[in-house]
Amino acid sequence: MSMLDGWVDEVGLIGGTGSAVNRFAWTPELLSACEWLVQRLRELGLTAEIDPAGNVIGRWEVESTADAAPAVLIGSHLDTVPDGGRFDGALGVLSALEAIRRLKAEGFRPCRPLWIAAFNDEEGARFDTSMFGSTAFVGDDLAALRDRVGVDGIPLAEAMRQRGFDFDEVPRAKAIDGVGCYLELHIEQGPRMQAQLLDTAVVTTVVGIGGYRVTLHGQTNHAGTTPMGERRDALTGASRVVLALRDAALTAGDVTANVGRIEVRPGGTNVIAGEAVFFVDIRTANLETFPTLGTLVRDTVCAAAAAEGLTAEIGVTYEHQPVPMDSDLRHLLGQEMDAQGLAWASLSSGAGHDAQVLAQHVPTGMIFVPSQDGISHAPQEFTSPEQREPGVSVLTSVLKKLLLSENSTVGALTC
Ligand code: GLV
Ligand code: MN
Ligand code: MN
Repeated sequence: MSMLDGWVDEVGLIGGTGSAVNRFAWTPELLSACEWLVQRLRELGLTAEIDPAGNVIGRWEVESTADAAPAVLIGSHLDTVPDGGRFDGALGVLSALEAIRRLKAEGFRPCRPLWIAAFNDEEGARFDTSMFGSTAFVGDDLAALRDRVGVDGIPLAEAMRQRGFDFDEVPRAKAIDGVGCYLELHIEQGPRMQAQLLDTAVVTTVVGIGGYRVTLHGQTNHAGTTPMGERRDALTGASRVVLALRDAALTAGDVTANVGRIEVRPGGTNVIAGEAVFFVDIRTANLETFPTLGTLVRDTVCAAAAAEGLTAEIGVTYEHQPVPMDSDLRHLLGQEMDAQGLAWASLSSGAGHDAQVLAQHVPTGMIFVPSQDGISHAPQEFTSPEQREPGVSVLTSVLKKLLLSENSTVGALTC
């Protein structure tokens, strides 16, 4: 009997208010989900800890580690967007947990270590520090984020201190050197699998993402007495940017652009907005287009500012390259899906994933399962138990193949 469905319900209640789930970096809600996972992993006989970057790392080590191949790592994330759903990230972590449970239950003996990760702060909802945990895990420098202030006004280093963590210790989370390859199961978060009646999909490329914080400064003034032609209205400038980016993305075809968060000051109905701060998220899977997106955002903001008599500041909040998934792992996953008689296809990912951080260091593969009505980053996010199972089954079988390869290769796959 699968434990997965009960776990999905249980974890959905941590930080869950009705159907919406709120678990953000360095909050009690996310840490309780992490502690829940640590307990489950220990019950299964793994060692488990929360590392200095807030990642849960569980390890199933092999008896003789002297010449064991590097670990196979599986996982995803437990944090959410504001008012997010129960499946984005959590289904990947809980499917990884279920795969380990199944291997243990059948007495499987791996020839190489199996690690599981619930990476901290994949979404970046509180500090715009997306993929914080996986970035620390691979050893990339996060020092520039020290003074980043959260949506609640609390600086990152202070938020960590409040939960007993130390920003200076984050580099100690680096553990990529022990990893041979990474596999992540995730919900598709879009409509294609449902439309094509797919059971599973193999991810080809994970989209590249640029995040920008834009501030437009105008002049606060009276809403009724200031002539319409003489205003320096920051919100009007921001509106121009939103529409211009939408149009640029539509024209490009393979780009998406989004402004999902805006703050206007001072915020009075009868007051012209003197300042607008908003956040741009712009994406493409096209490796050639990606480097041009920063210029597109800057040019668009500068044009809007000039048109409205405003001044502008633009800061990069995050940047993640588009990354192709490993071809050998894609092949192995596809072979297994065929062997299980599944309807599957190769699909790119328009969502960002920890996999794209890991993929810059080790061979990485991703399995998608369908999202009902293509809805995600919303409380209505849903993947039924019947839609979950094929992905878990593929993950478990592929894991067995990887874990039985004592000499660290599976066919042409070097792990
Ligand atoms: C993460 O879910 C992202 O795509 O931003
Ligand atoms: Mn997400
Ligand atoms: Mn996710």
